[in-house]
Amino acid sequence: MVEIEILTLFPEMVDAPLRASVLGKALARGAIRIRAVDIRDFATGKHQVTDDVPFGGGAGMVMKVEPIVAAVEDCRARLPGINVMLTSPRGRRFDQEMARDFHSRGRLALVCGRYEGVDERATQFVDGEVSIGDFVMTGGEFAALCIADAVARLERGVLGNEDSCQAESFERGLLEYPQYTRPREFRGRGVPEILLTGNHDRVKRFRRREALVATRLRRPDLFAKLTLTEEDEALLSGEEP
Ligand SMILES: C[S@@+](CC[C@H](N)C(=O)[O-])C[C@H]1O[C@@H](n2cnc3c(N)ncnc32)[C@H](O)[C@@H]1O
Repeated sequence: MVEIEILTLFPEMVDAPLRASVLGKALARGAIRIRAVDIRDFATGKHQVTDDVPFGGGAGMVMKVEPIVAAVEDCRARLPGINVMLTSPRGRRFDQEMARDFHSRGRLALVCGRYEGVDERATQFVDGEVSIGDFVMTGGEFAALCIADAVARLERGVLGNEDSCQAESFERGLLEYPQYTRPREFRGRGVPEILLTGNHDRVKRFRRREALVATRLRRPDLFAKLTLTEEDEALLSGEEP
């Protein structure tokens, strides 16, 4: 079972979203474990201070190294072998492959920075740094939630339908084919007839073609990495699915 810990100064920010919908149900069933750890609990002194002004001057505050390292060490002691990642815009860009890697390791801790970030020395006590994209947020909590969600849904029993993950975007180096549901017609817009034929083979080929076309159009970088089969080439050159 996958176990995820989110180390944060604002546990209430991560608790509420985890309780909703698919993850909330999976947590309630015990299919996954995700919990927030309050970094402030590891700060010492009367005021449990977790941030301070930067050496050398400059805007804003920096998260102190001691509470972060104490929280990380506590986590490592309770959950041996845990993979500890610091959320940071300077980290490696998160993607589906990383989600699978994190999931396969079983235990994951995500450390959330705040303010101007964390004292650089804290980076020496984690196993890596992870970014969710080239933009800057006020804190790591939303990044941690994105990552936790993507990792948790790979766990068996979290999604109702275990096939859900298989055809999804990025799972086979392709974006997903378009999906439709009722009504059959909406404001003059129908759904592709082939999806109504009940011919599973043709539907499968149609979806494969749509996934290939979407990937070629929207993500030429992914498309360039694909090894196309003869059938793929035929579908792309206009053969009927
Ligand atoms: C305001 S940011 C600090 C940005 C830092 N001063 C910089 O320029 O790289 C505060 C915290 O938000 C989190 N954060 C912000 N953007 C992020 C992103 N794109 N991916 C992951 N974490 C992010 C990190 O934990 C970071 O320590």
